[in-house]
Amino acid sequence: MRSTERPGAARYRATAARCPFLPYLGGSPTNGVLVGGPGSGKSTALLGIAEALTAWEDVAVSDIDLGSSGAGLDPMGDAIQRCATGKAAAEILLRDALSIAKARPRLFKKLGMGRNWQPSPSHPALVLLIDEYPALVAAGLFPLVSEIIRTGRKSAVTVLMAAQGASKDFLGAADPASVPLRIALPCQGQDVTRLMGTGAIAEGWVAHRLQPAEGDNPRDASVCYIRSGRHTEPIPYRFAWLDEDEAERRAQERQAAGLPQLDTASLSLAGVDLNVTLPDSVEIWTAAEDGEDTRTAENLVPLPDIPAAVLAVLEAHEAPAMTPADLIVTLKACDPAAFGDLSLVALGRALSKFGAGARAYGRERGVYYSDLLAAAANYRPRSSGEPSDRNAG
Ligand SMILES: Nc1ncnc2c1ncn2[C@@H]1O[C@H](COP(=O)(O)OP(=O)(O)OP(=O)(O)O)[C@@H](O)[C@H]1O
Ligand SMILES: [Mg+2]
Repeated sequence: MRSTERPGAARYRATAARCPFLPYLGGSPTNGVLVGGPGSGKSTALLGIAEALTAWEDVAVSDIDLGSSGAGLDPMGDAIQRCATGKAAAEILLRDALSIAKARPRLFKKLGMGRNWQPSPSHPALVLLIDEYPALVAAGLFPLVSEIIRTGRKSAVTVLMAAQGASKDFLGAADPASVPLRIALPCQGQDVTRLMGTGAIAEGWVAHRLQPAEGDNPRDASVCYIRSGRHTEPIPYRFAWLDEDEAERRAQERQAAGLPQLDTASLSLAGVDLNVTLPDSVEIWTAAEDGEDTRTAENLVPLPDIPAAVLAVLEAHEAPAMTPADLIVTLKACDPAAFGDLSLVALGRALSKFGAGARAYGRERGVYYSDLLAAAANYRPRSSGEPSDRNAG
């Protein structure tokens, strides 16, 4: 990134000095993925990233959010070029970005740019921030994103996707390991491994030990581990909190200073008309309506016995988690016939296999209701004849 005279640029330089991953996203265009469970701070992180990117005059920022109707980046809205909250609008933004990504290489020579687009105030990079990425996957739009990831980097057209998990259910065809910038907010152990690689947990990438917000308590929300080309140590960071009024004020200031405009050469070669009115449907996507997702209420698959019973126990329990020892006692009391001879080891194995193993809970270890809910939402039996988990130990 070169020119920095926009309002907020000095602040951005200060932030960038502390968070070396940010310029990496813009200055040297990079695709990124940000993973965190419910309440982990994904939207907060995206808002912080949007704030940083919109301070520069050589990046145009667009926002796609099908899951929460754009609520996340709303406060920065004035500094964001285009915003899509419905499937039709999202498709236009993605197709336009892809067309620009494909057109730009034909301009490299003419503009003296060498082998990669050189972002500048007159020829800005384009970054698409995508919150609630799984909604976009379910809307069938992920092939467009995959193609942008494949072709856009050298044209300075990149995406940053935020999702609740790193599995195929959440990310569709996007392979998190192929995306250079990876950010893990409080999430599951299996997400850490998918995102950061096998053995990552042993190396200290322990985002699964972070606790998402609960009620009014932010706990570890917006704390994250970041892996990128220049960022390879498992060091926890926290995205700074930006209140709505201040975000709005900064966005208005930037809008008044003039937002970076994509160059007409790219636009006309790509056949993109930014003045096209986007369909402004604020549809909140739901799986049942769209028909793409098969997890509707009618065809929910039954959960294995142990996780199902633990889920029922935790549902009725007041605290967010329970120690495995307490769980055993309760399970045995509730259903002696089924769980009378259940051992701690068998319980632990069944829950880990399910994706909701015990983790830090105060000074002890506990099984979290939120983990079970998340794992249940993702649960797919490996085969229809999968045996009961009761004898897993
Ligand atoms: N750095 C922070 N300081 C204070 N509160 C924070 C911070 N980061 C996040 N929070 C709070 O934690 C909660 C969760 O954050 P956020 O909404 O960003 O998470 P999310 O992962 O987007 O959640 P969801 O899965 O519901 O979309 C919010 O109430 C937010 O206000
Ligand atoms: Mg959110």
